[in-house]
Amino acid sequence: MSDVAFQRCISPPCGESYGIYESLLSCKKCGHLLDVVYDWERLQPPTDWSYFEQKWSRRNDPLCFSGVWRFRDLLPFAPPEKIVTIGEGQTLLQKADEVAKYVNLNAGGLLLQYEGMNPSGSFKDNGMSAAFTHAQMIGAKRAACASTGNTSASLALYCAITRQMRAVIFIGSGKISYGKLSQALEYGALTVQIAGDFDDAMQRVQEVSRQLGIYLVNSVNPFRLEGQKTIMYRVLEALRWEVPDWIVVPGGNLGNSSSFGKAFAELKELGLIERIPRIAIINASGANTLWELFEQRGLRWNSGQPDKGIVDAYHAELDALQRRASTIASAIEINRPVNLYKCLRALELTDGVVREVSDQEMMDAKAQVGAGGYGCEPASAASVAGAKLLRNEGVIGAGDRVVCILTGHQLKDPDATVAYHTTDQDKFNQVLGSRGVKRAAFANRAVTVSNDLEEIIKAIQLYS
Ligand code: F0G
Repeated sequence: MSDVAFQRCISPPCGESYGIYESLLSCKKCGHLLDVVYDWERLQPPTDWSYFEQKWSRRNDPLCFSGVWRFRDLLPFAPPEKIVTIGEGQTLLQKADEVAKYVNLNAGGLLLQYEGMNPSGSFKDNGMSAAFTHAQMIGAKRAACASTGNTSASLALYCAITRQMRAVIFIGSGKISYGKLSQALEYGALTVQIAGDFDDAMQRVQEVSRQLGIYLVNSVNPFRLEGQKTIMYRVLEALRWEVPDWIVVPGGNLGNSSSFGKAFAELKELGLIERIPRIAIINASGANTLWELFEQRGLRWNSGQPDKGIVDAYHAELDALQRRASTIASAIEINRPVNLYKCLRALELTDGVVREVSDQEMMDAKAQVGAGGYGCEPASAASVAGAKLLRNEGVIGAGDRVVCILTGHQLKDPDATVAYHTTDQDKFNQVLGSRGVKRAAFANRAVTVSNDLEEIIKAIQLYS
């Protein structure tokens, strides 16, 4: 593979290339992020989607069963014998008409991509199988990440199942939901809780990985993002290869949006799609760096010449004000997204937009998603809340076909869910009130009755 796949600096003036057997976090020459790029002419990838459909009949082959690796011709960096898979990517695209009504879209217009159905309960497994594959190629023995919870759960799970590497995870103190922390602990990861938040942990883990030579699986790792491209392939597959009008995705460290942009650029180049959908990236208003830079301060990819001064000035402001990210959507509680520039490139390619939504909007949208079945965690609901906002603004049309990515499972953060539906005002205030969530418009409250058969029957008849 080493002669048809390589790593390349994303900054066009630099464009330095590296082999795929190198483990790098950034370009050695200019410090920008790296892409995995392919010599498509020599690789001769499939020109027709039916090639991938044929793999369905060979589901007893793990590489055809995996929702990531059945598309491996579109991420051809690894020899088949090095591929690591635990059956990730068995996810679902579901038409959600009740939620469509809430978002103000026509029936059939809203589709929810349930990435919470992955083995560790979030989209991260798509990328983790690709990162583990690369780690296996280079013989790495330990892997690390900083995490708001899902990357760490995924890393710990892959380590526990494959026994390929030892997991070291960095988390901010008090910044991770119990569902996610419980996964990392139970799967046996070395868990390092530092006195700080995700942005601090992200900086430290890069320093530590460099010093100790530990393989880093955060989304600065370009191989991880190759795996995340397959979320878009599966969306297209579920739509019988018809391109939707919009992909709406929560924005945290901006790995997903970056990988989706790359996926669509490549599919267009390969002639597998004719048009590229628009991407909407939704920040939490308490962690809104991308929205601030892109929508308020006019930062653009600018064909590879972004105005870095805008970013530096914003970071200096955050420091001066000591402003830290703060949102109930702990998964996206991030102020310094590491994939900012790749994400700007994706926004340029897809004619994308960025919005911010409040914790209240996310929790209400989450309740609506849950009421429609399956459910999601707070950060994932940013996509639905964002679609509603864009629909109300008229940016998304009533007849558009919109795919919202539900990035994490509903059971990841039961505290937030129970607090929303509770009758206990103290519990509500403690978890949600402190985040500015004032009401629970879609609460499904438990009915309390005495332990008395007649009373129980009366209550059921009254409420059902
Ligand atoms: N949704 C969920 C459920 C997440 O866990 C994350 C990121 C995002 C959205 C944001 O995705 O970074 O690609 O923009 N979680 C990371 C973690 C940061 O450590 O688990 P992104």
